Amino acid sequence: MSRFPRGFVGDSSMEEPETPLRRPSICFRPINPSDLERLEQIHRDLFPIRYESEFFQNVVNGGDIVSWAAVDRSRPDGHSEELIGFVTAKFVLAKESEISDLIRYDSSKGEETLVYILTLGVVETYRKLGVAKSLIKEVIKYASSIPVCRGVYLHVIAHNNPAIRLYKRMSFRCVRRLHGFYLINGQHFDSYLFVYFVNGSRSPCSPLDLVVLVLNYVRSGIKVVASKLTMKQEEKGLKGVKCKDNMRCLLPTQTKRNLASSGYDYV
Ligand code: ACO
Repeated sequence: MSRFPRGFVGDSSMEEPETPLRRPSICFRPINPSDLERLEQIHRDLFPIRYESEFFQNVVNGGDIVSWAAVDRSRPDGHSEELIGFVTAKFVLAKESEISDLIRYDSSKGEETLVYILTLGVVETYRKLGVAKSLIKEVIKYASSIPVCRGVYLHVIAHNNPAIRLYKRMSFRCVRRLHGFYLINGQHFDSYLFVYFVNGSRSPCSPLDLVVLVLNYVRSGIKVVASKLTMKQEEKGLKGVKCKDNMRCLLPTQTKRNLASSGYDYV
């Protein structure tokens, strides 16, 4: 697995009961070191993997990860600074990204970048209040304020309907379906790749988009077939060698998600 998680999208029934009976007053602020414990807890509750402490340290200390917290300032119980939602993201070089072929480059602007959303979550009792929408808006506003930034993108597992609805509603464009992108308990799941272009990176819908989409679809199909053939050949070569764990078995496809735990509805 890579050093940092890649856009996990999860959900679970393990939320704590903290129903806001009053009308919450949601504010947004940067995540800071005092959020560490809560941030870890919500990630544990919402996502089906355990993140490394290096990731959380990087988030709260503002390393190479940018993040926003949502808090409910109207909480009467002394928890008004406690996270009820968050979004974490990092910069990647556009030309090194998975969507490098979709970017309209402008060499006069210098090294172009993208913002990649790593994790987004809202605790269950604060959902359907527009918290996630506001968090994503913060990311888009931030990305737009950086002239060399060309867009915001993310992966979401193909059956995470609430998240997919959210991104579509926010005019993210689904540019790819990645077959078998996630590996959860030995089972492969597809993911969608959503992009929101900023700073005039792409027109909303051009004939070129359609051509690129078709080409990408064909290309990903070829890749799937090629990787299956490669794996079959490797399996032949590995006959008699037992894998001790999923990670080792997955060495040829390490860019895929490998989610070993269970009990989660969405990723
Ligand atoms: N009154 C009533 N409904 C509202 C209001 C409002 N004031 N504001 C928004 N809504 C509705 C929206 O229309 C939307 O409805 P729809 O889903 O039927 O279209 C729904 O509420 C959700 O929109 P938000 O409120 O902005 O989203 P929410 O804060 O509920 O969070 C999220 C959505 C993040 C997907 C949440 O369900 C969650 O945390 N899930 C688990 C983790 C997860 O899946 N994260 C996805 C991350 S993607 C990634 O990490 C790359």
